[in-house]
Amino acid sequence: MSTPKPLENYTSYRGLPPLAGLCTVEEAAKPGLSVEECVRRLKRFHYAFKRLHQILTARITAEPIYELKTAFSHHAYLCAEHTTALRRRICEMREPPLGLEDVPHPALEAFFDEILAAPTTGELVWGVYTFAVVSLDQAIRDYLQATNPLTDAPSRRILRFACLELDDMLQWGNQSSARLDYSEFQSGWTMLSYVLQDLLALAGQVDGTHAVSPDQQQNVLPRCYSNTPYQYDPIPKRDERFSDPWNQGVNAESFLYSESFPPRAKALMMLYKRLREIDVPEMMASIITQTPGKPWGYYRDMTRQLWDEARHAMMGEVGFVALGVDWTQVKITHNWSYRLNTECTPMERHGVLYFIEQGLMPKTGKRYEFETGQKSGLPLIATIQDFDWADEVLHSQIGRLWYIPEFGTLQKALEYGDTAWSKVLSNWATVKAQGLTNHDNWWPAVYTQACAAEGIPPDPAVLEFAETYEGKRADLQRVAAE
Ligand SMILES: [Fe+2]
Ligand SMILES: [Fe+2]
Repeated sequence: MSTPKPLENYTSYRGLPPLAGLCTVEEAAKPGLSVEECVRRLKRFHYAFKRLHQILTARITAEPIYELKTAFSHHAYLCAEHTTALRRRICEMREPPLGLEDVPHPALEAFFDEILAAPTTGELVWGVYTFAVVSLDQAIRDYLQATNPLTDAPSRRILRFACLELDDMLQWGNQSSARLDYSEFQSGWTMLSYVLQDLLALAGQVDGTHAVSPDQQQNVLPRCYSNTPYQYDPIPKRDERFSDPWNQGVNAESFLYSESFPPRAKALMMLYKRLREIDVPEMMASIITQTPGKPWGYYRDMTRQLWDEARHAMMGEVGFVALGVDWTQVKITHNWSYRLNTECTPMERHGVLYFIEQGLMPKTGKRYEFETGQKSGLPLIATIQDFDWADEVLHSQIGRLWYIPEFGTLQKALEYGDTAWSKVLSNWATVKAQGLTNHDNWWPAVYTQACAAEGIPPDPAVLEFAETYEGKRADLQRVAAE
């Protein structure tokens, strides 16, 4: 008679789930990866998320398609959060030295360099989602299988979150790839695919667990696009729906703060202000990309703010759609991000951002917008402004944490931002003289559409509003205010 094995003989007390619900006793009784091996793999995952964050951020500004610009903003934020969680976990595992800024393998570095330098959006999306996200997801799933679910429960917890969001990213990537025109980069796509495959093989895949055969060993890493170091493109680009990007023909703030206009029309104008915020991720991506050497927390916080601003733009889009307005009739300028990115240093851009966001905190700022949303009788607008306000309070805190300490005092920090802002004052007449725009007043057409959708006649006084930003310092200070 064979003796029953201890595990088979072990029953849970009163049928209760054992081990705090983590796993079965049998699963926990299998030896898993060593701490050393866990740290080695986690460092590679950390590196992969950090590089994905860098790539996606760097490509926001010059990506013309709004849906891709906002998705890159979202996914860069997700990658920043997973980078943060992995850093914290690695710190718990008998390190230092942490070596979190080290490159775990030169071929892995080249793999991400290639994707960063991909010359077309199609190749970029292909490289990020079909190669990097898929490979990282697979490596994490292998880890989850191999590590002990009890001894390494803290790592498994954060990696399960990571898989959840990698899967969301992958789904988005697959759906988007199917819609992008691959004909423009057919030859490049084939070459990039081979190079990425080779580099991953040379790195032993993302986790470094796959053996590299002697005939795969090469002295020189195969590179195509990254042979020339990547250059960040600071010029914001928009797709064809943003048809008049130099137009500053409607002074939203002047309308919003006037006592003579009704809250419902102001709600519509606030949606313009929200959608216009697409220029903030374009500008913040330049600060993040062109400011090296900061502690990781800086990049995480700035990326959160960048993502919030992309969300604010999408709130505007949704609001317009819900009110029956074709938002492409609203002329969304890129003047702010264009000029800051090309005429100011990264620190000056941060100064302008902080200066503007500080201006939103008094009662006439975000609270006023929220209350106007409430008074408009449109619950969606109140919801949008409620969360927009909350986000801006967070952004002010982020500025206090990462911007003000550069100057020592709040006063000096604000003066620096104000001076930088003065550098890029009105170009209203210049862009008109250059034939870039006529500053057409799009407001009456948009307001009329909203009234028609609601089945009410337009208010003549609202219809006649035609105040532009021309020559107005005070209004210019608010032109990009979110
Ligand atoms: Fe905002
Ligand atoms: Fe903000």
